[in-house]
Amino acid sequence: MTRTVRVVVNDRAYERSVEVRRSLADFLREDLDLTGTHVGCEHGVCGACTVLLDGEPIRSCLMLAVQADGRRFTTVEGLAPEGGLDRLQEAFWTHHGLQCGFCTPAILLTAHAFLREHPSPSREEIREMLAGTLCRCTGYHFIVEAIHAAAHSGNHG
Ligand code: FES
Ligand code: FES
Repeated sequence: MTRTVRVVVNDRAYERSVEVRRSLADFLREDLDLTGTHVGCEHGVCGACTVLLDGEPIRSCLMLAVQADGRRFTTVEGLAPEGGLDRLQEAFWTHHGLQCGFCTPAILLTAHAFLREHPSPSREEIREMLAGTLCRCTGYHFIVEAIHAAAHSGNHG
């Protein structure tokens, strides 16, 4: 059984007919070709599939595409100005905040939402925020440094 789903992703409107059992993660990746959203556990544990719904992080593997109808999302493809990097991406680049990159889109989006509420976080607060997204490679140290640097780059903190 299919239903029509209309969403706005990264300020662009989409309309697609989808199977009612299709997850939002698969919808973004396979129907909208936004493959920066990664899928790991598909059980809400690893956080790799995180996207922003009205600016707040959610697990896109736990939401059905049909539940997304009429909603507005941001994926990692929508973070940067066209052809460039946003301040978090710049900081990840400079501070080696990634290795394989599998967790990176989710961490960038989670950090993006976090910095809106906590513009000047401590390293401890950043570590707490990262608890919901698993990274198998980095040990988190350089991720924390990158987010800290991005947060404090504009205010000399
Ligand atoms: S793939 Fe969604 S939380 Fe792991
Ligand atoms: S950089 Fe490989 S999982 Fe985080």
